[in-house]
Amino acid sequence: MSNKQARVPRPVEEERIALKARKVSFSWEDTPLHWVPGDPFATHTINVLHLLLPAGERWFVHVYKQVLPYIRDERLREDVIGFIGQEAMHSQAHDEVLPHLKELGLDPTPYTAQVDWFFEKLLGDRTLPPGRARRWWLMERVALIAAIEHYTAFLGDWVLNAEELDRRGADPTMLDLLRWHGAEEVEHRSVAFELFMHVDGSYRRRARTWALAFTALVFLWQRGARFFMENDPTLLEGKASFRAFYVRGRRGVLPSTEDMLRSIPRYLSREYHPSQEGSTEQAVAYLASSPAAVAALAAEKGAK
Ligand SMILES: [Fe+2]
Ligand SMILES: [Fe+2]
Repeated sequence: MSNKQARVPRPVEEERIALKARKVSFSWEDTPLHWVPGDPFATHTINVLHLLLPAGERWFVHVYKQVLPYIRDERLREDVIGFIGQEAMHSQAHDEVLPHLKELGLDPTPYTAQVDWFFEKLLGDRTLPPGRARRWWLMERVALIAAIEHYTAFLGDWVLNAEELDRRGADPTMLDLLRWHGAEEVEHRSVAFELFMHVDGSYRRRARTWALAFTALVFLWQRGARFFMENDPTLLEGKASFRAFYVRGRRGVLPSTEDMLRSIPRYLSREYHPSQEGSTEQAVAYLASSPAAVAALAAEKGAK
């Protein structure tokens, strides 16, 4: 145990931010179907977030509530509670985009039903006896969340810096949703990994669950993008392809394939710590200026 922990690299930033959920809300009525103008594929590839995150982040919260009794460090417990509050808010904010997509003729229900099954049944609680088996399944899911959070932080950092989306006139409300969420992902990027290292920390489990998380994300994402492209009422022959993804990555309207590939060995390195990725300073600066986060803060102050 002590050997294992000695190998854990320390965070690169020592300052600690108390994590709090910001109660944001967004008005979608002016957001067009193709909110990256003239680029349905980039729009829908990013839209897959609205399909995956409501169920996915609800699942994070569900698993983390079960792991709270295993935490023996007060500061980490506070971080996990702050993380739970933020993820619950993210899940709700993305869920609220779905009725708007439906109004625009793109009913996401057939796909979200599959995603719900994935998180609630496949990755849900199993009827396991208390003891080793139940703990094993809980630790497996805690490790999976740490691997997924490597990607949410990666995407958060990407969207905070995706100036090409601004240049192309992407819808400001959608950009604010993505950047508010992305900034909170960067802000809390160390919590899931630190929790995993605290309650388990096995390298084999980290590597195994990374492979599972990566495979599942690629599978669900390409299916989601294909679903949106094929069901988009304005497209005659909407198709999604890896080539389309690769090209958008080069243009800067989607994450680049090279950057995504380079992020793999970083997570698998024994020296990895999430604080090495992204910038807390940039995330906090965005949250201080995000229209939705500023409005949430003003509403909070008004209520006091
Ligand atoms: Fe989130
Ligand atoms: Fe997160």
